Amino acid sequence: MLTRLEVSGFKNLLDLRVEFGPFTCIAGENGTGKSNVFDAIQFLSLLADHSMIEAAQAVRGTHGELHGDARDLFWNGYAAGEHVMTFAAEMIIPGEVEDDFGRLAQPTSTFLRYELRLGYQPPGGGERGGRLTLLSEDLSQIRPRDAGSHLRFPHSAKGFRNTVVHGRRSTAPYISTTLDTGDAVVRIHADGGRRGQPRPAPASRAPRTMLSTINENDDPTILAARREMQTWRRLALEPSALRTADRYDDPSLMRPDGLHLPRCLDRIARERSSDDPARVYSRVAGRLSDLSGLHVRTLDVEADDTRRLLTIKLHEIDGMVLPARSLSEGTLRFLALCVLLEDPRAAGLMCMEEPENGIHPANLAAMVKLVRDLAVDADEQVDEDNPFRQVLINTHSPGVVQLVDPADLLIADTSTVPEGGGKTARSLRLRPLAGTWRAGGAERGYGTVADILAYLTTPPEARLTLEGSDS
Ligand SMILES: Nc1ncnc2c1ncn2[C@@H]1O[C@H](COP(=O)(O)OP(=O)(O)OP(=O)(O)O)[C@@H](O)[C@H]1O
Ligand SMILES: [Mg+2]
Repeated sequence: MLTRLEVSGFKNLLDLRVEFGPFTCIAGENGTGKSNVFDAIQFLSLLADHSMIEAAQAVRGTHGELHGDARDLFWNGYAAGEHVMTFAAEMIIPGEVEDDFGRLAQPTSTFLRYELRLGYQPPGGGERGGRLTLLSEDLSQIRPRDAGSHLRFPHSAKGFRNTVVHGRRSTAPYISTTLDTGDAVVRIHADGGRRGQPRPAPASRAPRTMLSTINENDDPTILAARREMQTWRRLALEPSALRTADRYDDPSLMRPDGLHLPRCLDRIARERSSDDPARVYSRVAGRLSDLSGLHVRTLDVEADDTRRLLTIKLHEIDGMVLPARSLSEGTLRFLALCVLLEDPRAAGLMCMEEPENGIHPANLAAMVKLVRDLAVDADEQVDEDNPFRQVLINTHSPGVVQLVDPADLLIADTSTVPEGGGKTARSLRLRPLAGTWRAGGAERGYGTVADILAYLTTPPEARLTLEGSDS
């Protein structure tokens, strides 16, 4: 769970500091930088897995294409001069993870702060593109006794916090950076039961972050932080992926574009109800029928043993049976989220752009409730029925703004910041609403209902008028 994010020098995020709860909705006009916040999170997640240059190229890419230029990511990256971006992420990581060899590992602390500074080196002789350079990388513990002051969203200390936050007494870092005779040196410190000297590496030549190189249970805390960051993903459900039937041996986790939905539902139905998969199916169908205009009685996953294919089948109230691929695009996306809601393995952070897209206004309330319910309930213990899932959405829709709890809202707009040479530039500002938990710690002021009033009313030019009427 990403509880706090600080970004500076990335796209139009300059000195952005924001806290996230289980559910957050960022609302603002076009071009303010709402998606750039998702990009920053996605970039951190990609950095945990790939080389820095691959991560830079993959941000906001489609279908795994690698085409971006690293300078796109830096604030005003094509201008002359030095470019630096800094990130800090505070996160609660899983209490147990698996390493690349299938061995289990328990981190010694589960509440951490990760800090990263990256620079840009223009292409040298013979090189086509510039490269990203690692300037510093640090991973340290946030002590359990400080957790209460760091986690300001409403939650149960006993039921929720004490079950997800634990840590050791020592405050030694897991990864640290020092300047040794002018050169930055990144060190991995002994963790878990292991003794030993820190392992140093010069930062300047590193093609990837130190965290992304950890794949064994010898460094359980760094590994668990890496696993946590790997779950920060951008959900972009595509009808074509959602309509694809699955083979028996396809992966059983739904991909961010919606591929493997039938296989995923099939696995959940078997795993979750040792007695009767029909219960899972009927819960999914019940949730799906929150959409008005749909007449679903139940659904199930049909297995075709000859072709070894899995398909979701809908049984309508009047007896008609249809494959899920015949559903409308809006309904299919809704169905995918209904399935995720039932999946205890779909944990981690989910970013979703404009969930209102393709949803009729009459169904907006059901959609907002569904994305809200996907997030963990911080008043309860985390378990199979309350998976550790965090949701972050953005929107321009007045309807969505009106439906979300004001405490979950951040108003996105831009503010003017001075740039060198008497010039000014605009950077993203995220403001919570006055009187909510987010406003308590807001260092940059907060918004009021007047600020979101524009969202609560439809612009006059958008109102329907009858031809010939002059009102
Ligand atoms: N490298 C950069 N340096 C400075 N500003 C940038 C950079 N890249 C993008 N921007 C700014 O970010 C804006 C786009 O932000 P973003 O795509 O996050 O908007 P958005 O709020 O998601 O808009 P929409 O609602 O239309 O999706 C651009 O208009 C530009 O002003
Ligand atoms: Mg956007």
